[in-house]
Amino acid sequence: MDDERIAQYRSWFSRFVQEHAAGNEQDQRNILLKKTHTALVCANALRIAAELGLDAAATAQAEVIALFHDLGRFPQYVRYRTFEDSRSVNHAVLGAKVLLEQNVLRGLPVSERSVIVRAVALHNVFILPAGLDDETCLQAKLVRDADKLDIWRVFIELSDRDPAAWPSAAGLGLPDTPECSPAVIASLNRREMVRLTGLRSLNDFRLLQLAWIYDLNFAPSLSLVLERNIIERLTASIPQTDELSGVVGNLRNYVNERLHQAARAGESRSGSTGSPRTDKEQ
Ligand SMILES: [Fe+2]
Repeated sequence: MDDERIAQYRSWFSRFVQEHAAGNEQDQRNILLKKTHTALVCANALRIAAELGLDAAATAQAEVIALFHDLGRFPQYVRYRTFEDSRSVNHAVLGAKVLLEQNVLRGLPVSERSVIVRAVALHNVFILPAGLDDETCLQAKLVRDADKLDIWRVFIELSDRDPAAWPSAAGLGLPDTPECSPAVIASLNRREMVRLTGLRSLNDFRLLQLAWIYDLNFAPSLSLVLERNIIERLTASIPQTDELSGVVGNLRNYVNERLHQAARAGESRSGSTGSPRTDKEQ
């Protein structure tokens, strides 16, 4: 995929966003939230791809997947005025449908179109299905990491502001009370992700987002968690109990362990294949 084609896709995306522009300020803030998110997921994807040493073709593919990953958010918001999939539609599947129905990827080889569409459709699944081909697996993992890194930014930036000033669709309607549910803490202690169902407070949601660290696929993504102080910033407003200090300590240990493992794997491989590091190797 050459630069000209990527530029065409960026223009197509801008027009698509424009077509979904809202008539009032509140709705337009929600649309712009996703437009900015897309630009920063692209930047994250390019950074991860560069640090993984992906070749030009795989890097271009990663950028296009990041550009299109949340396409479904725009028609979702226009139709349902929400970003909650459970109250509307699976936005990842909707985005893949838009790509197919509008034949956006015409001109690309069928195999490449298939990787892009499947990575978009899978970017929000709780756990990636087994049996994906290597290319789709790599790209789905990459966009999932790039997406999480920017969702953290959005949530942290919003947390610093008065909830009344949040774009209306950004919250989940959860109360900002001090409680943290035992079941959510137990999931984190098992190094497991937390499901959206059953959350009782914004603190539960903060813990759910922290648990995403256990789902990151690549060492460069974990480095970005450290570089951007994600753990500290997400936990800044959570009650500092012994139990939660333990959760945070476990997370920090996990990030450091994964980075050490990756560094050791990189050292032992240096001068050999130079192939991209994947989850299996870390
Ligand atoms: Fe998404």
